[in-house]
Amino acid sequence: MLKRLAETELPEVETRGAFMMSGRFGMALAAAVVLQAASVPAADLSLDYEFFKNRVEPIFLKKRDGHARCYVCHSDRSGNAFRLEKLTSGSASWTDEQSRRNFQLVSALVVPGDPAQSRLLLYPLAPEAGGNSFHSGGRQFSSPNDPEWKIIAQWVQGQKQAAPAGK
Ligand code: HEC
Repeated sequence: MLKRLAETELPEVETRGAFMMSGRFGMALAAAVVLQAASVPAADLSLDYEFFKNRVEPIFLKKRDGHARCYVCHSDRSGNAFRLEKLTSGSASWTDEQSRRNFQLVSALVVPGDPAQSRLLLYPLAPEAGGNSFHSGGRQFSSPNDPEWKIIAQWVQGQKQAAPAGK
């Protein structure tokens, strides 16, 4: 039994030694680690609720020249997956509870970390800029350089916003 253990352990030690001596392997390993780090920029890719509520939600309510607001088509009238909570009459924004539901729903329209795969960003983007050409709501953003498109993209990329003091 002892002898067999020793026999099985020996090759493993030899293998490790060979790995350590092989500079090429070491470099390949280092490169693999760097690559992995690059494709996962933030340790935490979760979507941030505060950033959504303070920066993204207002975009859905804002009027853009030549277009109806996202909210006009994407609330109770909406027949698709983008369906925002209906504002209580007289209210210019959502309650925290409603925003939490919006957050859940809108989160399902994005691929965290990947704006280019996120429906929320592709539908309202001009087709010549890489957007989806079938959006009845129009080309609300002419390019990915649009400041509001960028804000939504930042949210998808996991950007966080600290909760306001006292919350
Ligand atoms: C004039 C009405 C209208 C406006 C305004 C509008 N949309 Fe749309 N949107 C639609 C319709 C209708 C669809 C369903 C697919 C289609 O016909 O294009 C849709 C589909 C979508 C989808 C896909 C939902 C799914 O089921 O996957 C997303 C995401 C979206 N819109 C985002 C937006 C955003 C963001 C805005 C504002 C910047 C916006 N839309 C403004 C009418 C509108």
